[in-house]
Amino acid sequence: MTNTDERATRVREVRRRLTQEGPPRTRDQEGDFETVTVPEQHCDQLRDLMVSEGAEKVVEVGLAYASSALAIGEALAIVNRPLPRHVIIDPFQEREYSNAGWDLLCSAGLDSIATLMLTPSSIALPQLLTEGFVADAAFVDGSHRFHEVFVDLYFLRKIVRPGGLIVIDDDWWPSVHTAAQYYERNLGWTVIPDAFSDETIGVGPHGKQRARCKAYRLPDPSFEPSFENFRAF
Ligand SMILES: C[S@@+](CC[C@H](N)C(=O)[O-])C[C@H]1O[C@@H](n2cnc3c(N)ncnc32)[C@H](O)[C@@H]1O
Repeated sequence: MTNTDERATRVREVRRRLTQEGPPRTRDQEGDFETVTVPEQHCDQLRDLMVSEGAEKVVEVGLAYASSALAIGEALAIVNRPLPRHVIIDPFQEREYSNAGWDLLCSAGLDSIATLMLTPSSIALPQLLTEGFVADAAFVDGSHRFHEVFVDLYFLRKIVRPGGLIVIDDDWWPSVHTAAQYYERNLGWTVIPDAFSDETIGVGPHGKQRARCKAYRLPDPSFEPSFENFRAF
């Protein structure tokens, strides 16, 4: 087995255990893991997308129980580029989740490429931008408030390289969907069709009318539209 295979296998094993047995600890809320975490099937699809993208640098908003973070880590191990980096942002990982997600990443050996920022994304993302961090892809599953998702996407558009990938979870919530719609209608973000299945997977709003995860390709080159061309969303 090569080093790359060994690293990916180790991550896969932690993912398998997390799916079968749950995290080492959860918040004191019934069914919290199932409600909060990204389901395995979408995590597999997220991994496959990052692999086909050949991603080396990824920003993730919202760690919680690390199902998605482990899937991204597995992709980075498979892709095996020279300087993989996974920046994860979550202000509540310590305080609310008792580091359950971070400990899982450590047990998968991913702390060698991952950095955890314990600040709200509205503070962490501008900091990354100021540092000149450039990502190939981002995964957004943090605050689901409209204004916070909108701000996440505002900064990620400047951090992810032109032609890169931004994936959002929970597009079935109107707050998340509406924020993303601005970028789709006004800034040339295009949906990658069939990246995720559109069946109901996981816990979401009743009577939802759309798929849960959505993957966007950013335009290349990037552009700033005139305010006169604003399209309501
Ligand atoms: C739905 S959970 C993420 C689930 C995770 N993707 C998984 O697979 O387990 C949302 C996470 O976003 C975090 N969060 C909430 N507000 C945030 C903010 N302003 N910035 C970054 N993360 C935030 C929460 O602490 C929580 O861990």
